[in-house]
Amino acid sequence: MLRILKNKKISEINKMEEVDISLNQFKDIHIDIGTGNGKFIYDLAVKNPYTLYIGIEPTASNLYEYSKKANKNKLNNLIYIISSIENMDEDLNGMADKVYINFPWGSLLEVIVKDMPELLNKISLLGKIESEFHFTFAYSTIHEPMEIEKRNLPILTEEYLLNLKEIYLKAGLSIESCINIAPLEVNKFGTLWAKKLFLGKSRDVYKIISRKSRI
Ligand SMILES: C[S@@+](CC[C@H](N)C(=O)[O-])C[C@H]1O[C@@H](n2cnc3c(N)ncnc32)[C@H](O)[C@@H]1O
Repeated sequence: MLRILKNKKISEINKMEEVDISLNQFKDIHIDIGTGNGKFIYDLAVKNPYTLYIGIEPTASNLYEYSKKANKNKLNNLIYIISSIENMDEDLNGMADKVYINFPWGSLLEVIVKDMPELLNKISLLGKIESEFHFTFAYSTIHEPMEIEKRNLPILTEEYLLNLKEIYLKAGLSIESCINIAPLEVNKFGTLWAKKLFLGKSRDVYKIISRKSRI
């Protein structure tokens, strides 16, 4: 079952084929997990009409503003789905050319920095062979000590980030790069969270790029 949010209303469909957009008209499909208010993919959808953008978010009310805006502006290359990664419908598997996770929290943050192959595999399954996965995240002992303790998050040393390569391979993802991104790059996300992260703070923001391997 897929719960689709359109113009602040949820409708339920059994398969992606039942969505009111013809899926095969697009040159590629990008999925944003934990899309928040949906602005990041809304902006991309406006710029790239030949790409279909799918935003996945467990809290429907977060998306009300942009689902309304998408409907008003007749944006027909954007779909918001209400779900967590844990409960994601298998019908989305193998659809994505690119998967984003931007500034996650909770279990969505845990899965990209800890050894959780089953949940990471759920994310990996969304992609086609050779698809790209872009995960951007930030936390530090200075700014998020409580979250680190509560979720037992690893300290992000260069050595630890290298260990993640082994972990990602278990889910069929091959890490190509793991970089500390510049504040200017973070600004380009244009989201509330990208702004909040840097409000009066200088901090490290990490980006892991991986690719789905042919196994
Ligand atoms: C800090 S917000 C970032 C939102 C957005 N990506 C952005 O950059 O503005 C984290 C988001 O992750 C979502 N999230 C948390 N756990 C999740 C999970 N298990 N599955 C999917 N989304 C999740 C939250 O609902 C929230 O919208």
